[in-house]
Amino acid sequence: MKILRAALLHTKPDASVPQGFALEYMEDAGLLIDGKGRIADKGRAEVIIERWPSVAVQDERPFLMMPGFIDSHLHFPQMDMIGVCAPSLLPWLHTYTFPEEIRFRGSDPENPKRADAFTLELAKQGTSFAVAYSSSDALATDQLFQAFETRGLRAIIGKVSMDQHGPRELLVPAAQDLKASEDLIAKWHQKYNRLFYALTPRFAPSCTPGLLSDLGHLLKSDATLYLQTHYAENKAEIEWVRQLYPKALDYLDVYDQFELLGARTILAHCIYMSPRERDLLLQRQSIVSHCPTSNLFLGSGLMPLSSYAEQGIKLSLGTDVGAGTSLSLWQTMNEAYKIAQLLQAPVTPEMLFYLATLGSAKALGQMHLGSLEKGYDADVQILDLGRKKSLERRWGRFPDSSGRISALIHGADDRNLVKLMVAGRDISLN
Ligand code: GUN
Ligand code: ZN
Repeated sequence: MKILRAALLHTKPDASVPQGFALEYMEDAGLLIDGKGRIADKGRAEVIIERWPSVAVQDERPFLMMPGFIDSHLHFPQMDMIGVCAPSLLPWLHTYTFPEEIRFRGSDPENPKRADAFTLELAKQGTSFAVAYSSSDALATDQLFQAFETRGLRAIIGKVSMDQHGPRELLVPAAQDLKASEDLIAKWHQKYNRLFYALTPRFAPSCTPGLLSDLGHLLKSDATLYLQTHYAENKAEIEWVRQLYPKALDYLDVYDQFELLGARTILAHCIYMSPRERDLLLQRQSIVSHCPTSNLFLGSGLMPLSSYAEQGIKLSLGTDVGAGTSLSLWQTMNEAYKIAQLLQAPVTPEMLFYLATLGSAKALGQMHLGSLEKGYDADVQILDLGRKKSLERRWGRFPDSSGRISALIHGADDRNLVKLMVAGRDISLN
């Protein structure tokens, strides 16, 4: 047991307001962390210290504690290709991305080192929980799980499934693909309640109907499994899917027909949805991963975040590295804010912060994560604003809670991170 003492900024559930959460800032807070890494008590520091007099205090003043970030979509084998320019998604994939992913094989002795570097980069950004694509190589995926286990971060990971329309080296026939996924599930899914498996059909054009159908059956066989894919990111992609499935009602209908849509299905991008598709997505309770830096970099389009939020669609934020240009959730919130401004459908800073933490955890069904309220797991990042003087000055100038969040969204970066904890344990940042 220990008491963590510092300023605190987070969102907590609040059923009394329509948006369902409230932002809270405390100048001097105490968190009692129990032996299981859970927040057993929370309040003003003096109150907590008085209530638990025998517990040691870890004094982190004058720093700021907040929940670890959740990145709901990114690609391990694209970690070293940020900023590779192409006219749009499909040429970017075929010219640069597929060839790059061929390198990420478990038989390459460099691969475990890359996996370790990937988890380190995430930790340095304050990301305690990542939803990641591996390559289509089973051993490389095993090594990625291993790296997350070793560093102690949370993750949902999947071996990419693809059996058509890509270079031969990336394609895996359906039977072999299913066997590899099942082996990885048996080894890693739900390990320590920290690591999870996601079936990962890359996107509809990369998979034969037979493969999609097999993955749908596997998903149905276990309600705890996740599934991640890409959807409605780019107009040429949507047209390609229409040509491949001329009888389908729309793109989402393709996934629905193969029974790939459930409450643990994470759909990256979701930029172009018809009213029917929005209703279907809501009905299936699937999760949108909004990837603003990627959508701007590839020129894919502007996802209508506020409108989806009003409709009650489950939302989260993804960096989508390597199409995304940063592993930072600060940068991701920053660009999500600007996209909403361009659409003249603003989103509040506190909503963005919620989506990077508690909102995303709820959407993913991880109800014990994303907040620093009593009962949640102690996934905590500690920030020193003084490491960036312009941010420190700005922070004090417009000091209501929303203004503080906005200062961080548009000013904080990895220099500010002092410490990251998952379930109360320090994560190595080197
Ligand atoms: N669609 C299919 N594969 C990918 C990918 O790797 N990145 C992005 N942004 N979109 C995709
Ligand atoms: Zn992606």
